[in-house]
Amino acid sequence: MQKEKIIVTGAGGQIGQVLLQELSNRYGMDAVIATDIRPVPNWGGRFVTLNVLDRIGLENLVEEQGTTQIYHLAAILSASGEKDPLMTWQVNMDGLLNILDTARTRGIDRVFYPSSIAVFGAGIDLQQAGQDVPLIPATVYGITKAAGENWGYYYYHRYGLDVRSLRYPGIIGYQSPPGGGTTDYAVDIFHYAARREPYTCFLAADSRLPMIYMDDAIRATLDLMAAPKEQIRVRTSYNLSGMDFDPQELAAAIQEFVPDFKVRYEPDFRQAIAASWPQRIDDTNARQDWGWAPAYSLRSMTKDMLDHLGSTISSGQPIH
Ligand code: SER
Repeated sequence: MQKEKIIVTGAGGQIGQVLLQELSNRYGMDAVIATDIRPVPNWGGRFVTLNVLDRIGLENLVEEQGTTQIYHLAAILSASGEKDPLMTWQVNMDGLLNILDTARTRGIDRVFYPSSIAVFGAGIDLQQAGQDVPLIPATVYGITKAAGENWGYYYYHRYGLDVRSLRYPGIIGYQSPPGGGTTDYAVDIFHYAARREPYTCFLAADSRLPMIYMDDAIRATLDLMAAPKEQIRVRTSYNLSGMDFDPQELAAAIQEFVPDFKVRYEPDFRQAIAASWPQRIDDTNARQDWGWAPAYSLRSMTKDMLDHLGSTISSGQPIH
């Protein structure tokens, strides 16, 4: 078996911190190099400061290390992106093109590119987003992800570069804080509940969105990357689904374990972003092509989050 050397960009982010641990469990600590513009918390392996806009720095690192795979996680997310659209375009797009072109010229085997439910928007049934539908995003972040998917498709078909991608829903995990996203409320709310403090939600009570538990999201990522090449039939980005709920339903799920937990709703500019996204995702292609199935429901995710964040569980009911 080939010895892998894996570079992760944006490794200090919400997904990166958890992915590093799983990659090092699977491939060994020596196989994984974390990169970011700031040091990565809780990472005992190799770290290199790298701005993805620095093409030369990226090429040098890839070459020095004999890199075989890149997980390109560095990006500015939906809510932060709206504050400076042109800079968001530059970081997300130029960063990706540096990765893809370095991967092409340096013979990288495989690239992972995270896309998002933010690619969806006008012109589709938001009740349930299909795989191959028009992508008319409402945010600059969504525009960069939609364009990025097409660049991945282009590099695969034109150069044979094995780029694989998932359209992540909102990701919920206890391990790392999210930053600058519209779905971040679904992580923040747990920290308040665990501290027995009331939470003020920046989305409306009935703002339903697709979500996924971190364990499921990481497993989907590694399964996609490990699947035989001929099974990867979607070369833009796979729809991926875990669960869907609105803030009110999440609050009720938490109240089963923390009965006196209170939530107030004060929607801000992020509500318009959430309203432009689908409520559910049809991930049939991922299920058929490489066997995707989520393990966590709203209830089992809620229990696991509260267990890890140190809350006292007051419900004795078994979890399914
Ligand atoms: N969770 C991300 C965000 O809210 C979507 O990809 O921006």
